[in-house]
Amino acid sequence: MTRKRVGVLISGRGSNLQALIEAQESPDYPAKIVLVLSNVPGVQGLARAEAAGIPALVVDHKRFASRSDFDAVLDQTLKQAGVELLCNAGFMRLHTEAFVRGWWNRHLNIHPSLLPAFKGLHTHARVLDEGVKITGCTVHFVRPEMDSGPIVAQAAVPVLAGDTPESLAARVLEAEHRLYPHALRLVASGTVHVDGERVVGMTQMREEPPIFSPPI
Ligand code: GAR
Repeated sequence: MTRKRVGVLISGRGSNLQALIEAQESPDYPAKIVLVLSNVPGVQGLARAEAAGIPALVVDHKRFASRSDFDAVLDQTLKQAGVELLCNAGFMRLHTEAFVRGWWNRHLNIHPSLLPAFKGLHTHARVLDEGVKITGCTVHFVRPEMDSGPIVAQAAVPVLAGDTPESLAARVLEAEHRLYPHALRLVASGTVHVDGERVVGMTQMREEPPIFSPPI
């Protein structure tokens, strides 16, 4: 099996990166992280990469005059490392359209909501404000518009009485750590692909009962 060469873009804690690192320890995992890039120096995600023996670099966006200059260096660095598939894992910078077009259908993002609901920042606080009963997380292919693009996989997570943005974030994050390795496996193995802006090719879909909240 040849593993797809993956680059991971981070800006912080890197717990989703850690989930991907742990997934690739399995001998049948179809992806291998060859480079971690952070736009913020000194973040925990960089230490996680180093601890796993994965090359990790900082490309500090503050050193660049424009978004396109920053993205050009990002693009060049990823190509030099032979990256075939790109994963945003808590990467908190918007890409230029040119960058997104260059990685079209080879670029994933994870977002802590059931997209297309609750794009953007402060997701969990907004979910609680709206009184939403079921939230979750989404892995999708990246498109120029923020937090949009063909959906690869989603996980549903209940909102519980007394939740704070922090408690809800922690519950969703646990689901993220299972979802991202699963979605990357599907894409890297070629099990799924984009067709007409929909992800197709899922096998063995089961009919599941609906989740009720409050329960019936
Ligand atoms: C995750 O919850 C991820 O879904 C979110 O940032 C967090 C990063 O955590 N991403 C976004 O909000 C992107 N729109 P991590 O650094 O521990 O993986």
